[in-house]
Amino acid sequence: MYRTMVETDLDLILTCLTEPSVNTTTRERFVAYLESGGYRPAWTWLAVDGESVAGLAVWWGFPDGDKPLALDCLWAAPAVADPVPLWAGLIRQVPPPVEYHIFTQPSRRDDPEITTRLAAAAEAGLTTVTERFRYEWTSAQPRPERSARLTFRPGSDEDFADAFEQISVGSLDVATLEGLARVGARAQALEDVEFYKSMPGPRDRWRLAFDSSDALVGCALPSANAGGPVVGYLGVLPSRRGRGYAGDLLAEITWMLAETGATTIRADTDSTNTPMAATFDRLGYRRFALRVVAS
Ligand SMILES: CC(C)(COP(=O)(O)OP(=O)(O)OC[C@H]1O[C@@H](n2cnc3c(N)ncnc32)[C@H](O)[C@@H]1OP(=O)(O)O)[C@@H](O)C(=O)NCCC(=O)NCCS
Repeated sequence: MYRTMVETDLDLILTCLTEPSVNTTTRERFVAYLESGGYRPAWTWLAVDGESVAGLAVWWGFPDGDKPLALDCLWAAPAVADPVPLWAGLIRQVPPPVEYHIFTQPSRRDDPEITTRLAAAAEAGLTTVTERFRYEWTSAQPRPERSARLTFRPGSDEDFADAFEQISVGSLDVATLEGLARVGARAQALEDVEFYKSMPGPRDRWRLAFDSSDALVGCALPSANAGGPVVGYLGVLPSRRGRGYAGDLLAEITWMLAETGATTIRADTDSTNTPMAATFDRLGYRRFALRVVAS
């Protein structure tokens, strides 16, 4: 039987979370996020067999959100011979669209711990698997030079929606392509504006980038998530691609975040987005991990 967590399950759940695993959820994180609202009893699903817990799924959502968005943990009791159908059943309890993010090292991508979880996700409908490289800049690196050929200005939500819509054309970003197919370019751009606004980074740091003739080139969104400063988003208009502007935008984001005290900045890009990955390498960002995403 699948059911959501009740208060008296807490000790049992914390015991499940003690085992080292590929799961993002640790004991400490579970307690802290229950407090902050990123995890909730109503978003924590148990598979129970009589009195005993056979499986557990922990979902994450924004603390001020009304639905879970991403799966952070799948656990099964050692007695469960094949956890795949059990986990698939647990995942199906939460309505799509949802994602499952697994954080690992490139060398551990094919460990059974990961492949079994991805098999369960696929059985529950999360069949698209993408890989994102994780990058990190630290203040041990010199701050990148700010662009001498672009100027940066704030803009309205409408301006950013227009920029996002144009930038989505020819994008190599998997989530963008999925959004285009699902709702179309305009709705996707509006969704993205709301999504980036819901992140903890201040909205007033978003920038539009213009060239010397004051024509729009792209946009740069420094931001933050619960873990600290991040490169929220950047993009170059299709007609302006291939001139290295991505580097100017990333330099501006890095500079703005560093200037306001960031000592570590993190960023992700899809393995298919080769110009973006090359830009991170060029600007001194180090590839430190791999995020596997089932959606
Ligand atoms: C990724 C992106 C920012 C790259 O911008 P850029 O300023 O054109 O990057 P570069 O000038 O360094 O491009 C390097 C090469 O990749 C090519 N390239 C860039 N974007 C490309 C795209 N979307 N599709 C195919 N090729 C692309 C360039 O033409 C150039 O080719 P060349 O070396 O043969 O001249 C831009 O493609 C974009 O805005 N994409 C959509 C948004 C996005 O993916 N943002 C990153 C999210 S993490």
